[in-house]
Amino acid sequence: MTYLTWSNDLAVGNSFIDGDHQKLIDMVNRLHVLMSEGKGKDVLGKVLHNLITYTKEHFRREEDLMRKISFPGLADHKAEHEKLLAQVLELQAKFESGAATLSIQVLHFLRDWLINHIGKSDKELALATHDMAH
Ligand SMILES: [Fe+2]
Ligand SMILES: [Fe+2]
Repeated sequence: MTYLTWSNDLAVGNSFIDGDHQKLIDMVNRLHVLMSEGKGKDVLGKVLHNLITYTKEHFRREEDLMRKISFPGLADHKAEHEKLLAQVLELQAKFESGAATLSIQVLHFLRDWLINHIGKSDKELALATHDMAH
């Protein structure tokens, strides 16, 4: 069973942002499959690393867009990105040091965070890009 399914509820209506989110969801699903298969630390660590790298790039793309359109919510939105990144990097450090394993709770955390952030902050950003086009 797929852990996270893309649906129209998650679409914010901006094609690059939606494309990035679909890729992020694919990566979370991939991590879930590998965890279910009982893959070892090396494999999981590599996928987690790729997920974090892609997340950083995605955040940077959103922040560039916000600057481009002088989005008034930039500071708050960027702060949310930084908070998530700090939390994920902390999880990664614990995982790499052997102090923690990748559990389903880690995935739940990523899932809930993604869905909440996409549904609110990213939707607001996408709406602002629509306003610009009118
Ligand atoms: Fe965002
Ligand atoms: Fe996003």
